[in-house]
Order: sequence, then structure tokens, then C-alpha cells
Amino acid sequence: MTIADYRVRRARHADAAAISRLNNTFADEGQMLRRSPDVIALAIDDYVVVEGASGELLACGALKEYSPSVAEVAAIAVARSAHGRGVGRAIVSAVEALARKRGIHDVFALTLQPEFFAAVGYTRVERARYPEKIRRDCLGCARRFACNEYCFAKVLEAAPLIRAA
Ligand SMILES: CC(C)(COP(=O)(O)OP(=O)(O)OC[C@H]1O[C@@H](n2cnc3c(N)ncnc32)[C@H](O)[C@@H]1OP(=O)(O)O)[C@@H](O)C(=O)NCCC(=O)NCCS
Repeated sequence: MTIADYRVRRARHADAAAISRLNNTFADEGQMLRRSPDVIALAIDDYVVVEGASGELLACGALKEYSPSVAEVAAIAVARSAHGRGVGRAIVSAVEALARKRGIHDVFALTLQPEFFAAVGYTRVERARYPEKIRRDCLGCARRFACNEYCFAKVLEAAPLIRAA
């Protein structure tokens, strides 16, 4: 079953508090990193959201750039009421569209949800493939020696060229 009536769009500053609430619901369960409204607001151009028929926030996700060609599909969260209806697939697809728009074709995710990322077309890879990520985040992380996240990656195809008839 899919949710017919939802809209995928770029995030706005006014979304920061709701994104933080959704993110931190899962952070409290140890599934994601905590993110405050201020931290999200600073990176709001990197976020996409899914909103439901009444404008409620159903999902969020962000593109975290590590180099001109490599970025992380990060902070993916879907409201529990919308799980299992294709919204997670839609938000990942929206983050990928943002990556393509920025000319980035090598995307990866560090996740505790390997089956989800496999289902949306990602392949398990060694984290060592992304030294930029390790340098910036992993080396300073408290769970550095006990990390249980899986690294998944995808090479994004370029959008097909539209030819004039
Ligand atoms: C993981 C999460 C984003 C999935 O969102 P969702 O909207 O339920 O996912 P979808 O309905 O779009 O599912 C897409 C595919 O993934 C599969 N899938 C989703 N969650 C899964 C899970 N936990 N285990 C196995 N498969 C899963 C679905 O079966 C579906 O496969 P199909 O299209 O082949 O049938 C959501 O459960 C969530 O927000 N979890 C908490 C936060 C989190 O862990 N985020 C990831 C951090 S990187």
C-alpha cells in the first residue's frame, strides 16, 4: 500500500523544529544521531521533506556533502504512522535527486537499517571507501570502536538527456 496524497519538497526554515522532533523520536531510541532545530536550520538547504495531505511532516532526509563528488544520504526518518507505505523510498529518491542536481553521483549511507537500503537499490560496501567520512565524523565518535552501522552505497545514473525531435 502506498500513501497517494503526499508531497515531496525541499525543506524550509519553518520546517526545522518539526524535522528535529521527527529525527529525535528515533534518536531517543538509538536509531539516529540527535539533531537540534538550530543545527538543522543551518543545513536546511540540504534537507528534503515529505508532507501529508494536511501539511504534516511525514518524512525527512538530508544530503551531506563530503567532496564535490561524494555525499551521504543522511538523517532519513519516516513518521511511524507512515511506515511501510513507500515514503522512505520517496525521501531517499528526493535526496538522490538533490545529489544529481548538484552533480554528485557517488552517494552512501551509514545505517542500522541494511534491509531498507538494500531494498532501495544500495549495495553494501566497506566504509574505507569513504575516507572523507571517517576523517570528518568517525574518528571523533564515541562509538568508534564499537560501531554497528553498515555502509551502503549507490552510483547514481545521470538524468537522461532530453533530445529535441
Ligand atoms: C527505515 C525507514 C526509513 C523505512 O521507511 P518506510 O517508509 O517504512 O520504507 P518504505 O515503505 O519506503 O520501504 C521501502 C522498501 O524497504 C523495505 N523496508 C523498509 N524498512 C525495512 C526494514 N526495517 N527491514 C526490511 N525491509 C525494510 C520495504 O519492505 C520496501 O521494500 P519493497 O519496496 O521491496 O517492498 C523507517 O522505518 C524509519 O524512519 N526508521 C527509523 C529511522 C531510521 O532508522 N532511519 C534510517 C537511518 S539511516
